[in-house]
Amino acid sequence: MKRACKTIASKRMIKIMRVPYYAFENKSFNSMESVNKFKMIFIIIIASMAFVAPAIAQNDKNIHEFPELNYSLDALEPYIDTETMNLHYNKHHRGYYNKFLAAIEGTELATTPINEIFYSVSQYDKNVRNNGGGYYNHKLFWENLTPEQGSIPADLKSAIDKSFGNVDAFKEKFSEAASSVFGSGWAWLVYQPGGKLVVTSTSNQDNPLMDVSEMRGMPLLALDVWEHAYYLKYQNKRGDYISSFWKVINWDVVADRLKFADENCPK
Ligand SMILES: [Fe+2]
Repeated sequence: MKRACKTIASKRMIKIMRVPYYAFENKSFNSMESVNKFKMIFIIIIASMAFVAPAIAQNDKNIHEFPELNYSLDALEPYIDTETMNLHYNKHHRGYYNKFLAAIEGTELATTPINEIFYSVSQYDKNVRNNGGGYYNHKLFWENLTPEQGSIPADLKSAIDKSFGNVDAFKEKFSEAASSVFGSGWAWLVYQPGGKLVVTSTSNQDNPLMDVSEMRGMPLLALDVWEHAYYLKYQNKRGDYISSFWKVINWDVVADRLKFADENCPK
């Protein structure tokens, strides 16, 4: 992140510094004495750095990145349509991200890992909770989708069987949670300390990492049930959207999250 920001900032610096360089090729400057030209170059370079240096420092302070999609906007057709993906990713998600950055700009939260922010999110402005949640929840959501769904890895299936009886029972419970969200929100498969998996839902852009959530734990699977996630294609039929969701889940990502939770959460 820091290296990427420095690269961008360096390009900007070159661009800014080229303006005065080209200016000296203008005829109006050709008549100046050489010594005056060098003085002018020196002043402009210093002035340019005065503008650029704070920009570099500001970029370096932010650790929260907007994620790239691992697939094209039309890749999840026919289950999630291209126009919905375009609006959802490029407008809604990007909007949450930009507002989140605005909410934390110049504060220590710009360099605080997002999970740590969520652990004490009740202490912060509601814009941090709403837009930080919107930024992070969508990141999880895109990651746990794929156009090339495989089978459920053995370790994940074993954990699901242990907590819910079998995969079908888990799907039924998760679908019920997603259908039951009143208004806007999310459905979750969550890992709790000790290794138990549970299904829960949250309102608005809350998530199970937040200290405001009733059911807390590490998110393994996320489903966005805001109307902006499905209304263009499914209108009021949220149940059909949920049924399609099961066709595009990246079980390998869910299994990786489970493995990480197993290795890092207290038993
Ligand atoms: Fe969304």
